[in-house]
Amino acid sequence: MAIRPEIEKLLKELDERKKKIELAGGEDKLEKQHQLGKLTARERILKLLDPGSYVETDMFVHHRCDNFGMLKVEAPDDGVVTGYGTIDGRQVFIFSQDFTVLGGSLGEAHASKIVKVMDLAAKVGAPLIGINDSGGGRIQEGIDAQYGYTRIFYRNSIYSGVIPQLSAILGPCAGGAVYSPAITDFIFMVSGISRMFLTGPNVIKEVTGESITDEELGGAKVHNSISGVAHFYSESEEGCFTQIRRLLTFVPNSNRENPPVHYSGDPLDRKNEKLLEIVPADGKRPYNVVKVIEEIVDDHDFFEVMYMWARNMVIGFARIHGHPIGIIANNPMVLAGTLDINASDKAARFIRFCDCFNIPLLTLVDTPAFLPGKFQEFGGIIRHGAKILFAYAEATVPKVTLVLRKGYGGGYVAMCHRELGADAVFAWPMAEIAMMGAEGAANIVFRREIEKAPDPEKKRQEKIQEYRDQFSNPYASGRRGYIDYIIRPDETRAMICRAFEMLWTKEEERPRKKHGSIPL
Ligand code: HXC
Repeated sequence: MAIRPEIEKLLKELDERKKKIELAGGEDKLEKQHQLGKLTARERILKLLDPGSYVETDMFVHHRCDNFGMLKVEAPDDGVVTGYGTIDGRQVFIFSQDFTVLGGSLGEAHASKIVKVMDLAAKVGAPLIGINDSGGGRIQEGIDAQYGYTRIFYRNSIYSGVIPQLSAILGPCAGGAVYSPAITDFIFMVSGISRMFLTGPNVIKEVTGESITDEELGGAKVHNSISGVAHFYSESEEGCFTQIRRLLTFVPNSNRENPPVHYSGDPLDRKNEKLLEIVPADGKRPYNVVKVIEEIVDDHDFFEVMYMWARNMVIGFARIHGHPIGIIANNPMVLAGTLDINASDKAARFIRFCDCFNIPLLTLVDTPAFLPGKFQEFGGIIRHGAKILFAYAEATVPKVTLVLRKGYGGGYVAMCHRELGADAVFAWPMAEIAMMGAEGAANIVFRREIEKAPDPEKKRQEKIQEYRDQFSNPYASGRRGYIDYIIRPDETRAMICRAFEMLWTKEEERPRKKHGSIPL
């Protein structure tokens, strides 16, 4: 179709303006970004979203800072590319900071662009994905940068539990800037590229005299395995995008929806003969609980979250008969499956995320106790352990608990005991559900009797056995109705599937309140 010349001129101008903006900080800087093993802001969006789905917002926004001669400084996109598109056909909103433009630094206009997509995402009810690659607050803008960050933190907080918010750290993320990702639900980091810290190596050197590199201080491994700040680790940006896409398959677009159902055809009553072998009856022998999870869930497909940190507690997503569930499990392979400070924090936050987004919970119990020790007590295990109790009690999604082996003392109670609101509680025949271990119990309760006996050791063993016969099995709890079902390990999937099928429509009302006061 012939276009009139005056229209053609305007279209040409639009094209040229767009091309200039797309050149971002210029070819040299884009090339430098590649040399650092990083994709550019736009490339990242295009790689992550479904082909052809991306629509850019606010392309022509520009800063209005007049400090330090900034009015003359061109800043295409004001250093952040924003917009929306789809992932697996589902709506998402996105921003991607552009390090080639003023180091991706955040000023008033940059923040306004992010705020606009955040508000749209909340109104529409769709996930927000932030790609962070920035030198932090734009130094020339000063207080306007503070204002901008605060607007973002505020929205991160009030939209928490409304829409899923994911943060990929694909470059520097330093100073106060770290708090936006920290408030979001999941942080993804990439080896060699991601950096997160409040104060960088130079400041640390000045203040404390310690020498440390960027990577050692705030790299992907550090935050995935030591600090527990990040949830996912990958070796490449592509790997990170695959993780983001996969995570979204388990979560709904907002708290107004249920999570997406994809039934693969894995039979509901598939026998789990392997479970007769994976878990040794001898409570002193370790095993990897991930193998148990993989045996139970659809297609043996388990998406583990935070797999490098607090590994005595395993958390992650899977499907049961097509429906996403969140799984929380003690792992006897690490610290004998005890609950410690980090394990409690890890589980509590995950439980709350699942509850916000209508994702039912399956809890697998094999724990001897909370981890004893001075450093745990000094570190506040009382306060941290309380979080997991609180989180389970508060959660109203369907809750199914299975005691695999040890369910002792407060450790068991914290792993979704029936009276924390579990809707269905299962145990295997080798389960030992007791207030404490038989040896410890016998030594306390029967101490005098043992001391007076002609052969104290023989008496001690008798008393241990007596206590064990009384409590260290699932039947005592079964008699009281604390356990609903004692099942064969090889029928676990069938029974768990049926329990969730029964519970999909569960609704639970709570007393009216603004919100609880979780012991943080
Ligand atoms: C303005 C910035 C900037 C910033 C980087 N640039 N950070 N411009 N404000 N915060 C610019 C640089 O001047 C440079 O511009 C370009 O971005 C690339 O930066 P380089 O330093 O050349 O890159 P690199 O060597 O890779 O180092 C990256 C870096 C470093 C480690 C991020 O730039 C850096 O330390 N930046 C400052 C970090 C910082 O202190 N931010 C403020 C934090 S306080 P040219 O024109 O030369 O290419 C904060 C408060 C938030 O964020 C408050 C909220 C609560």
